[in-house]
Amino acid sequence: MKHEWSSRLTFILAAVGSAVGLGNIWKFPYITGEYGGGVFIFAYLICICLIGLPIMLSEIALGRRGKQSPVNTMLQLSQEAGAPTAWSLLGWSGMAAGCLILSYYSVIAGEVMAYSFRASSGIFNHQTVDGVKGILTSLESEPEKLLAWHTLFMALTILSVARGVKGGIEKTVSFLMPALFVLLLLLVGFAMNSGGFEQAIDFMFTPDIDKFFYARNEMGEYLMDAENEKIFTWVPMMVAMGHAFFTLSLGMGAIMMYGSYLNRHVSIGQMTLIIVVLDTVVALLAGLAIFPLVFANGLNPAAGPGLIFETLPLAFGSMAGGTFIGTLFFVLLFFAALSSAISLIEPTVAWLIESKGIRRIKATVMTGVAVWFIGLATIFSMKGVTFGDIIIDVVGDVELEAGIFKYNLFQVIDFFTASIMLPLGGFFIAIFAGWIMHRDSTEREFSFQNRYVYPAWYIMVRYVSPFLVFMVFLNIIGIFNF
Ligand code: PHE
Repeated sequence: MKHEWSSRLTFILAAVGSAVGLGNIWKFPYITGEYGGGVFIFAYLICICLIGLPIMLSEIALGRRGKQSPVNTMLQLSQEAGAPTAWSLLGWSGMAAGCLILSYYSVIAGEVMAYSFRASSGIFNHQTVDGVKGILTSLESEPEKLLAWHTLFMALTILSVARGVKGGIEKTVSFLMPALFVLLLLLVGFAMNSGGFEQAIDFMFTPDIDKFFYARNEMGEYLMDAENEKIFTWVPMMVAMGHAFFTLSLGMGAIMMYGSYLNRHVSIGQMTLIIVVLDTVVALLAGLAIFPLVFANGLNPAAGPGLIFETLPLAFGSMAGGTFIGTLFFVLLFFAALSSAISLIEPTVAWLIESKGIRRIKATVMTGVAVWFIGLATIFSMKGVTFGDIIIDVVGDVELEAGIFKYNLFQVIDFFTASIMLPLGGFFIAIFAGWIMHRDSTEREFSFQNRYVYPAWYIMVRYVSPFLVFMVFLNIIGIFNF
């Protein structure tokens, strides 16, 4: 007999635990900063409503119907619908995406762990801007330190997953999410009085179309082509859409997996709405906590992945009780990362157990060790670490000359998984749920709903969401001539 969540609350907690993580607090602020603020947030919110919501409903519905790991769920559902079993490829690409994402997720989560120790040592007290930057560089420029933290984080992930989802994760998230929320509010309160709040609101909520659609260099200056025209780019749109998938844990089977443990009598519409709203609120609060400090201290919002490791310590260093609050904050963020990491690895572990008959402990260790190895790529490509010439340039000449789209290996993996693999996975999930599955199969999963939910979902998942994903991809292809 398959495991089921003990209650709908535990399902919500686990799904929110998966959704709320580094994506909300580390990634969302820095990509918002890099892609110009207001329009980026606007694009992201639209993607959440028109793409994220319907696809999350689909993943939960599919998972609950298949009751297995994504690969086997897709196998079974495609047979049920009389469709080619090649649909199980969706499960395979999901497992690959999950492992790739976890490989760098773990490195960043390791940095978060390092920062909780640093915060507790009081090192941030009365630091200057240069001081906090130096603290970050000292971590990122020493691969063996990053490696140690990455190893520790992977070990903890393996430990939690090996013990089974129920014992660890349900208990942790139920105290963790509320606490994280309260701390974020506290930080927003602090940020409001920092002197940069108005600028931050302006930055986050005033759309500036040009900043979003035209390529700029690190200094924020627009790039010009030979005719002295600004250069149009779809990359920010792709990143915004990718982030909607990433932050909701969609497109790779994590939510499908969790849906498979869900009881038949639960309304999935209600569940989805709660998860999506909580996740979005946490991301926006993180922005409101961070950007005021960025502006008040003359920092650069486009500082990249190190953004929260530079701004938050400044706040903690200058607030009363900052040592305590700072430590607590990074510890909670670490837990949030752990509950997401668990869901990144679980589809692969569950598949190994189901299809290969491997015991959970062994399956977890095998997967975890593989992910640990892939994580080395991120460590070696971190800022400040020159490891041979691993820096790869991925896009065309114009951008390269101007020096903007220079990605290191970590950024390539991040872009490829979050902005390409997850949206593609989501696209096919929507097509499968909307076009391949029989109507009565999906309709049954939607009983216990208000009667408008099903028809609305059906239209979205058949036409709107796949169309939007397709359009974004089409434009990218058109622009870059892949
Ligand atoms: N949603 C998680 C976050 O925002 C990351 C994640 C992505 C987790 C995909 C599971 C699957 O941090």
